[in-house]
Amino acid sequence: MTVLVTGGAGYIGSHTVRLLRSLGRDVIVLDSLVRGNREALLGAPFEQGDICDSTFVTDVCRRYGVDSVVHFAAYKSAGESMTNPGLYWRNNVFGTAQLVEGMIDAGVKQIVFSSSAAVYGNPDRLPITEDCPIRPENVYAETKAVMERVISWYGVTHGLRWVSLRYFNAAGASSDGVLGEDWSITTNLIPLVMKAALGASGPLQVLGNDYPTPDGTGVRDYIHAEDLAVAHVAALDYLQSGGGNVALNLGTGVGTSVLEILKATERVHGSSVPHEIVGRRPGDPAIVYADPTLAGTTLGWHARHTIDEIITSAYNFHRSRVV
Ligand code: WQD
Repeated sequence: MTVLVTGGAGYIGSHTVRLLRSLGRDVIVLDSLVRGNREALLGAPFEQGDICDSTFVTDVCRRYGVDSVVHFAAYKSAGESMTNPGLYWRNNVFGTAQLVEGMIDAGVKQIVFSSSAAVYGNPDRLPITEDCPIRPENVYAETKAVMERVISWYGVTHGLRWVSLRYFNAAGASSDGVLGEDWSITTNLIPLVMKAALGASGPLQVLGNDYPTPDGTGVRDYIHAEDLAVAHVAALDYLQSGGGNVALNLGTGVGTSVLEILKATERVHGSSVPHEIVGRRPGDPAIVYADPTLAGTTLGWHARHTIDEIITSAYNFHRSRVV
């Protein structure tokens, strides 16, 4: 049977599509290509369209014999979501409801959902476990929390079976340099560090060095894209074998600071990375990192890539594309 991957032309989606195909699984990618990259499909079967069109979703599910869905398709910029919230409510929330309606009409009842640790907002305890309060601090994060609840309620009303995967900070690139994060549409730290290191931008702005952390800069749990892809496949297998509905944290359980990221990059780059200390970004928590225990006991999964592997793979990916 076939796995439908929405947003499979995106960053984590393309890593997951590649892994599924390498394992011999049949895949059909549904992507609008509004923010996806056709080249990242690597020749995977593909249907261009919008998840908001439930009739199209039903048609694709029936034509390809889909039995489960991995749902990546969403916009994910916290900043953009606060200036253009309507884009996020429609694409992320309405789109998810329409996707599920289309699935249900085709008799497809299993979904792995790409959620985010952003749903926790500014944590009041660490490490973050799945029972920590859901307190989004921006529209993007709120849409992820609402998407989880939409999916959960379809579990109640229509027997949809689901796993929601709450990523911490996704980073890194495929070890062969073929897939990686598009730095032209991201505001995330690691691609911006690579831009500064490779001279494709001005100095990296370190957003605050007066946090209550060992070196004063923000601490996050960076998780390799390839580790995330493995978790999605494990979640599909978990559902196929009858596993119950669950939300799981995907992180390493280790926090790394902005300055530590800069130092790791300088080791790979062989020289300093231009950067300047500026004020804090409003709403940024000081420290965020996961307790990934439940993903381990539920899926038999744990992160395998180190922060140095994340930095090295990201650096190599971006360096190979700098003209
Ligand atoms: C990381 C650290 C910043 C940029 C994101 C979003 C969302 C989610 C992952 C999927 C922080 C610092 C950053 C810069 C900096 N993805 N920083 N200079 O803020 O943890 O949130 O998490 O759901 O994309 O919620 O990620 O990469 O923006 O910031 O100093 O130019 O780097 O202050 O400490 P964040 P980030």
